[in-house]
Amino acid sequence: VDVLVIGGGLIGLSIAYSAANKGLSVTVIDLPHEGQASVAAAGMLAPLAESLSQTPLVPLAIKSLRLWPLFIDQLRDDATAELVMNGPGTLRLAHTSQEELGLLDAFMWQKAMDMDVECVSNEELHGLEPALNCDIRFATLSPQEKHVDPRVVLSTLREACCNRGVKLLVNEMAQEFTSTDLKIDGVRLKGSIMVCADHYVVAGGAWSQPLLEPLYHLPVVPVKGQAASLGPFERTPFAHTLYSQHGYLLPRPNGTVYAGATEEHSGYDGHMTVEGVESQRKIATTMVPCLESAPLQRGYSGLRPVSPDGRPILGNIPGWDNLHVATGHGRNGVLLTPLTGQLMAEHLTKTNQIPKAFAVSRFSNS
Ligand code: GLY
Repeated sequence: VDVLVIGGGLIGLSIAYSAANKGLSVTVIDLPHEGQASVAAAGMLAPLAESLSQTPLVPLAIKSLRLWPLFIDQLRDDATAELVMNGPGTLRLAHTSQEELGLLDAFMWQKAMDMDVECVSNEELHGLEPALNCDIRFATLSPQEKHVDPRVVLSTLREACCNRGVKLLVNEMAQEFTSTDLKIDGVRLKGSIMVCADHYVVAGGAWSQPLLEPLYHLPVVPVKGQAASLGPFERTPFAHTLYSQHGYLLPRPNGTVYAGATEEHSGYDGHMTVEGVESQRKIATTMVPCLESAPLQRGYSGLRPVSPDGRPILGNIPGWDNLHVATGHGRNGVLLTPLTGQLMAEHLTKTNQIPKAFAVSRFSNS
């Protein structure tokens, strides 16, 4: 095959799908670890809500948000699943006057980035979402910041990849690379089976780091996020995605509320804990008090792959012509899925360069 992608989460599958659409033959090796980020993720498509300062991530995250409708249309041609962008947008909430000032500051540069964003006064806010805690004093509303269900995206991408001729090796674990003369010539699976390709892309989320460590030090660490799903309600008590400095709430079309998420530095332990999941209900009730009595439907736990500057690390691994990486998506993996697929497919076909803000080279001298 032309390309072997190691990692069958959203990022790996999106690269495989985009590369196959460019005519490359692709195989994907799944990495079925407990705590896979794609399975636990909320699915917020919210470049503004996730950032109160204007970092180099924001324009690229906005670019990816704008690719989502097209990405969904493409997937509809290759898969049967009903994938949609949900919700009337995101309300970023201020509980204190200091938080209000922070939102107003951000509003100025967000407007300048040509995003649809507006200030919502106290009275308008509580009219719009009557279930909100009355101590919330102000919000900004961005109608373009909707959400998707990452588990539906995952199954849709799997089906679309198969229909595009991508071969999926499920329940396999890449153990190590073998190389000759600074060129990778295979990946060893359990039982000493070798899989070979012209190019290798490591897209294994947080587990990309240990797999690559013998060849290259990737500055990516796992940061665990635990979340709670509450309900179901006949109708969720609010319609918008609600985002505060302490957590966020997503009303799902099935009547449940996703409340997330912790940020825990606990290594590669992807397990859920009662305290972790319950802490999210407490934060949820600071935004919507009636959630206090909502039944806990289930918990989630996932390891985000986080880079030192919070931006993805994409492209060629220095010193290895045919080895590439796509990880470090941190809190924005779902949002950045279409853009990452596109950028990596263009990189593999040598039709475009990885933007400097995402390139591996920014860490090469450290
Ligand atoms: N994007 C939400 C999270 O990482 O918790």
